[in-house]
Amino acid sequence: MEAPGCWGLLLALGLLRGAAATAATEAPTAHVLSRVLFCQPDRPSLGLADTFDGDQLFSFDFPGARWEARLPDFQPWLGTQESREQIGNDSSLCRQLLSVLTNITTGVLPEARGTPMANVFTAQPLELGKPNTLICQVGNLFPASVTVSWQRLGEPVSQGVNTTRYYPTEDLGFLLFSYLEFTPQEGDIYTCTITRPRDRFSTVAYWVPQNPIPSELLENALCGLAIALGIFFMVTGIVLLLKSRRPSPTE
Ligand SMILES: *[C@@H]1O[C@H](CO)[C@@H](O)[C@H](O)[C@H]1NC(C)=O
Ligand SMILES: *[C@@H]1O[C@H](CO)[C@@H](O)[C@H](O)[C@H]1NC(C)=O
Ligand SMILES: *[C@@H]1O[C@H](CO)[C@@H](O)[C@H](O)[C@H]1NC(C)=O
Repeated sequence: MEAPGCWGLLLALGLLRGAAATAATEAPTAHVLSRVLFCQPDRPSLGLADTFDGDQLFSFDFPGARWEARLPDFQPWLGTQESREQIGNDSSLCRQLLSVLTNITTGVLPEARGTPMANVFTAQPLELGKPNTLICQVGNLFPASVTVSWQRLGEPVSQGVNTTRYYPTEDLGFLLFSYLEFTPQEGDIYTCTITRPRDRFSTVAYWVPQNPIPSELLENALCGLAIALGIFFMVTGIVLLLKSRRPSPTE
């Protein structure tokens, strides 16, 4: 049997959990604020992100050595995070621990691995011919090292693609999203392919247009049907009215 490689050992440091209680009358709600720093032999070799109840607030762009807000609304809080120097120190501690623990555990503990799970959906309600965004949500990532690609009818699509960083999840796995700007057409088949480069393992999620919002033509047809039904009921009403007015033969 092949000895488990030292590759998969991934270290998460500094998982901070803060439980904040909402004030006053209502039952207190617990929230989780977490900061996860990870280092791994695969790319990206370092990652750092703050999440609140599983939603990403900030992430650290290691190549650019700066914090980034996930949404423009969070921009004002940039700069309140730990300094680059502190991050540098934490990262080297992470790498040292990774190296020591890898040496200790290789051949002793099995390598942890998650099978990526993906699903694809549209950002807006589906309407054929109207620009939309396809979202590929990829979960159960461990280690955080995959490539995401898009295909339309089997042909690679690279324009209009944006893929997020890895979001740490509560179970110490990762999640990411890939976005594809597109205009849905009849007969489309889109695939979101997630590949783990190390073992060439791929997960594929499909998307085909289903139950699009009725087009104008269908709307007109439905409208026509409604009017026809209305007339039908009106006629039935008149017939019933006439019937009820007609003196019954037994009377
Ligand atoms: C980072 O590490 C260096 C060297 O060990 C130390 O001098 C410095 O104070 C540390 N910085 C922080 C912010 O902890
Ligand atoms: C781990 O093992 C490698 C080779 O077996 C060695 O070069 C390295 O120094 C070791 N690292 C630690 C932290 O013990
Ligand atoms: C998406 O990617 C494009 C380049 O492909 C970039 O210009 C744009 O800023 C990105 N949008 C977001 C929201 O990241």
